[in-house]
Amino acid sequence: MFSKLTIRDYDVSNKKVLVRVDYNVPLTEDGQVADDTRILATLPTLRYLINKGAKVILVTHLGRPKGYDPRLRVDPLAEALARYLGRPVRKIDRTVGEEVKAFVEIMKPGDVVFLENIRFHKEEKENDLEFAKELASLADVYVNDAFGTSHRKHASVVGVPNFLPALAGFLLEREVIHLSKLLERPNRPFHAILGGNKISDKLGVIQKFLQIVDCLYIGGGMCFTFLKAMGYNVGQSIVWEDYLEEAKRILEEVKNGNANCRFFLPEDVVLAPEIKASAPVKITSVENFYDDWRGLDIGPRTIETFSKKLLEAKTIFWNGPMGVYEIEKFSKGTKAICEALAYSEGTTIVGGGDSDAALREFGYSGLMSFVSTGGGASLKFLEGESLPGVDVLMDRY
Ligand code: 3PG
Repeated sequence: MFSKLTIRDYDVSNKKVLVRVDYNVPLTEDGQVADDTRILATLPTLRYLINKGAKVILVTHLGRPKGYDPRLRVDPLAEALARYLGRPVRKIDRTVGEEVKAFVEIMKPGDVVFLENIRFHKEEKENDLEFAKELASLADVYVNDAFGTSHRKHASVVGVPNFLPALAGFLLEREVIHLSKLLERPNRPFHAILGGNKISDKLGVIQKFLQIVDCLYIGGGMCFTFLKAMGYNVGQSIVWEDYLEEAKRILEEVKNGNANCRFFLPEDVVLAPEIKASAPVKITSVENFYDDWRGLDIGPRTIETFSKKLLEAKTIFWNGPMGVYEIEKFSKGTKAICEALAYSEGTTIVGGGDSDAALREFGYSGLMSFVSTGGGASLKFLEGESLPGVDVLMDRY
């Protein structure tokens, strides 16, 4: 049950509605939208507001600019959105100020305007309340449809709701409902598979999963920190030295039976001397690493073990590729995981931009139960932490 008020619960007709979206999407070299998933995911909210006669004022961040950066202007996002909505979206070159106010004052019901990248203002990340107040002064109501940013305590996420009635959009609501099911009442067996490079982002969720899932599989670049913590030579593979102790602690916990789940690391890996499509490759068991080579994918035995075991699951959560899937010779592990989830009869929930991109790359994206638009936010949520951007919205009860 979603405990926050949504746009269904409020009369938005003829109101100026400030909608925080997360259109932090990859761009092509010539500045076009390379992945429109996050834009498409907000269309139900935006169409609903337009049909109700709201005046829609959109705001997002794009990238991590330090001040104004012409390459991170949001014009391509506004253009893409206009195409999907099939109606004009007026891009304004500022985020706050008199020019924006003047424009917003003459908006008609159903009009859509798109403000400039909010991170051009350092006050956004500082959660400056004066800045939040100025942003809020543009509108009558605030809507958060930016699940992917809801773990950030930024002005447009947690500041603005101090000054306006604050509602959830449909995207935010769907995300919270689907991810909550994993924490509250997953069909068992519940398996989680984590990959990607950065172990620091995943440690919190690994700790949580040790307690709530039945099987936890680790692949991707971060598996080498665990393999090294077990005493294996991992050659030139990426190892997060600062997290070796933490990895050892987790392995101890598993060994001592303090965790409630079975823990799987790769048995074999695909090695290459460098990350290049033309590089030679070797497949080796984790006991027999080559000193000057690095692990870039899980090996065939691991794929078989993971895929077979995943078939038993009634619920699967996946975040992070198993290898450098962008290069064909290091993509088999990630592709196999996409396949295993696609073949699963259970509930399959995927988080993170890379995993979503891999699903699309290998043609499996339509076959998941739910794909979260939030990478970091979905992991924070699954750690069991409430998200600040959700907390500040108006309660239903
Ligand atoms: C994301 O892409 O994960 C969100 O848009 C948050 O972006 P950030 O990590 O730059 O805050």
